[in-house]
Amino acid sequence: MSEAEKAIQKLYAHARSASDNAYSPYSAARVGACVIDDRGNIYSGCNVENSSYGLTQCAERNALAAAVAAGMRPGAAHTMLIFATGFETLAPCGACRQVMSELMTEDALVVSCHSETDFRSWPLRELLPHPFILSEKEPQP
Ligand code: THU
Repeated sequence: MSEAEKAIQKLYAHARSASDNAYSPYSAARVGACVIDDRGNIYSGCNVENSSYGLTQCAERNALAAAVAAGMRPGAAHTMLIFATGFETLAPCGACRQVMSELMTEDALVVSCHSETDFRSWPLRELLPHPFILSEKEPQP
């Protein structure tokens, strides 16, 4: 079984049920995403739209924000599963790729599906080969 298939087996129900909570009155797109970290913790998010369209938040970034808010060590998420209806198979937007590169492992895997058998997957470094990185980070207590 491939790593992508293993991710679907473990995370499909989480991503799918997050998509049920999508707030998307403008596009009607329902997207759910979840990440799993090196301790096996799973964090989910859905897309949340806004009448000021540019404020819309994607499911992937919301999943990673939920992970950080719940105490995940930034950089510890190694796999993301995206579930979306209304797209062929969603390839994550550029903003989400940048946030993934900050908060996921260097060798992270991103899987996108619209059923348990219909999926695409990419190594994160292939989705965003040259992420923006600041070399200096402030130490965090
Ligand atoms: N969307 C996501 O949740 N993730 C992506 O990677 C791309 C787009 C959402 C945002 C918006 O609610 C809808 O899909 C249409 O753009």
